[in-house]
Amino acid sequence: MKEKFIPALDFPLLTKLFDSFISFAIPERRIKGDLMDFMNITEEDKILDFGCGTGTLLILGKQKHPEAHFEGIDIDPKILEIAKRKIEKQKLDISVVEYDGGKLPQGNNSINKAMTSLMMHHLSTDKKLKAMQEIFRVLVTGGEFYIADFGMQKNPIFILIGNIAAKFEPELKANFTGCLPKLLADAGFKNVQTLNTYNTKLGTICIYSGQKVV
Ligand SMILES: C[S@@+](CC[C@H](N)C(=O)[O-])C[C@H]1O[C@@H](n2cnc3c(N)ncnc32)[C@H](O)[C@@H]1O
Repeated sequence: MKEKFIPALDFPLLTKLFDSFISFAIPERRIKGDLMDFMNITEEDKILDFGCGTGTLLILGKQKHPEAHFEGIDIDPKILEIAKRKIEKQKLDISVVEYDGGKLPQGNNSINKAMTSLMMHHLSTDKKLKAMQEIFRVLVTGGEFYIADFGMQKNPIFILIGNIAAKFEPELKANFTGCLPKLLADAGFKNVQTLNTYNTKLGTICIYSGQKVV
């Protein structure tokens, strides 16, 4: 059975506004471009975008690295329709599939690199950990996972917002208190690093990475 989920802008009616909103609210091209650069993608790489949304990161990746394989999954069929239209318009070979929020459809050790942006804050702490464990399972040994999402907030305004959000959206509060690096380590990732931080109108966003070393 499909898990309950929080849509891209919290309400299904706002999903179609996601791309315009996010490019206004954060330096999206810079953050997603940096994420892609940190990943050091080669033409042999098979890359999964977890919670791919409207497909912006996948499209950016495929345009930069046409020989690499990119695929995305997301729980929301409505946002995947937008992603499919954008991918078709760019005539790119990228598959995006709907999944139920549980076990990933990818096999064990089948992906070299996984990435996710602005998605982990939609999950409860328990689900964040389970998602990371699933990503760990599908990565090859030596495979890497990159996350761009809200991190520890230093600005007092965002600390206050985090405390208010805790009442309505505890998923976001956990991000704001910097839970992601520890969860990556708990899921089994080694060499966990914070690669960059960005102060945006929505709060501090960090890029983290971890490696599957067994
Ligand atoms: C804020 S949007 C970010 C989309 C995209 N990664 C980006 O950076 O533009 C969060 C996405 O996470 C997806 N999502 C929420 N819960 C999910 C889950 N349990 N599994 C997979 N995707 C999920 C939503 O449908 C939405 O597309």
